[in-house]
Amino acid sequence: MVEAILDAVAATAPEIRRGLPGRRAYGDEENPSGERRLAADEYADELLEERLLALDAVGSYASEERESVVESEGRYHVACDPLDGSSNLKSNNAMGTIVGVYDEPLPAPGRSLVASAFVLFGPITTMVAASDGTVTEYLIEATDDGVERTVVTENLRLPENPTVYGFGGRVPDWPADFASYVEDIEQELKLRYGGAMIADVNQVLTYGGVFAYPALESAPNGKLRLQFEGNPIGHIVETAGGASSDGSRSLLDVEPTALHERVPVHVGTESLIDRLEAALA
Ligand code: AHG
Ligand code: MN
Ligand code: MN
Repeated sequence: MVEAILDAVAATAPEIRRGLPGRRAYGDEENPSGERRLAADEYADELLEERLLALDAVGSYASEERESVVESEGRYHVACDPLDGSSNLKSNNAMGTIVGVYDEPLPAPGRSLVASAFVLFGPITTMVAASDGTVTEYLIEATDDGVERTVVTENLRLPENPTVYGFGGRVPDWPADFASYVEDIEQELKLRYGGAMIADVNQVLTYGGVFAYPALESAPNGKLRLQFEGNPIGHIVETAGGASSDGSRSLLDVEPTALHERVPVHVGTESLIDRLEAALA
């Protein structure tokens, strides 16, 4: 059942990627978070809704691009960020799709995730998926016989020693306690920040380190959405042996109150997340 959902996301990925070139313009609507929506956001959202709701396993579909949940019959509840980092389309930088498969109606706590995945449209298209307590990386290729999903890394784990960091928001907008944490980290690690969370998180999964889009003075709940970004990415990083935090607890323990609520997101090597929580305490 869950595999069928991951298969559908993988099968849709090449079609989303092929549809990007002609959809770099902004549409005239905003998404429920009040952000301008690209034609590519709408296209990816419509494709994913159609493909996922067609599955018997899917009981509802929600996305950051839609006000409310689309109900159907089926056990699992799927929350999507159809295109994460879509502002990178104009500058031709990496972006991708995030999917959370929850076993409870949305908005749901991260602990009810049975699978999480992101597709990364980088030089190659890959999918990183957490399910059954393990993280697997796949190569996604469109072939004459359809879309192939080939395992390239099994039991993906963060490396012991952290190497990279990436923090969103503007420096003057960082609260003082977060800024003091950054001062230590930037003495120790290399800056890797590209404007698409999943591409930056894939650096952390590959090289070890920490990614954060923290609480800002101007936005105490940060920028990223719990259901569509924080929970799935927190689930993947924790399953890969790392840690996640909203600043004081695992993202998966944040009790949801609204479908589009934002949450400060910090994910990466456990010792760095422990230091972050100590700095913000
Ligand atoms: P989305 O394109 O789905 O709205 O996500 C963009 C998010 C996230 O991917 C990234 O970490 C962050 O926005 C970048 O924000 P800034 O442009 O403020 O750096
Ligand atoms: Mn998005
Ligand atoms: Mn996003």
